[in-house]
Amino acid sequence: MAESPVVLLVALRYIHVVAAALWLGGGIVVLAARAAPSAAPLTGISSAVLGRTVGRLVGTGLAVFVLTGALLTFNRLTEQTIDAPYVAVLASKILLTLAMFRLAVPGRRRSDPNAGPGASRPWWQGRTAMIVVLGLLAYLLSIILNEMAELGFRSVG
Ligand code: HEM
Repeated sequence: MAESPVVLLVALRYIHVVAAALWLGGGIVVLAARAAPSAAPLTGISSAVLGRTVGRLVGTGLAVFVLTGALLTFNRLTEQTIDAPYVAVLASKILLTLAMFRLAVPGRRRSDPNAGPGASRPWWQGRTAMIVVLGLLAYLLSIILNEMAELGFRSVG
């Protein structure tokens, strides 16, 4: 993969980063709707339609992250300049991402006390808030990974 065409790597990174932006953006929109003083932002959208849409987005996002993430990981790990600290940060990101996916899969959604009309907890203590926080951390770790990889390149060249 180290000799793969640049265009393939660019496409992989592009899809991965767009998925990250949509994942976080979607989560923040749901949080903003929950935080609104009334249900006005969701007027006209039934909760069943919203639930189905979010479910599809979660499924697609998950598949895109796993596929593009695995290929990007393989690409990085075949580079000579990648060291143990990079691998440690990458492992932390993958664990964090798995925890986030576990919270996001439909099977867990039913047990969310924040999801139904009788939601008891404030929006910032709910499952969606946790998913957004974990997503933001994954994003930060990704930028750190990129800087670590760049530093490795610079130190040999
Ligand atoms: C299965 C899960 C995932 C794996 C295996 C994975 C793996 C990777 C790898 C190896 C890179 C390249 C890092 C580098 O430049 O050295 C990367 C980049 C990136 N990842 Fe992930 N990732 C996953 C999920 C996520 C998630 C959930 C997010 C955010 C919500 C995310 C956001 C990003 C971003 C923004 C970059 C680009 C960083 C940059 O180039 O500045 N990733 N990912």
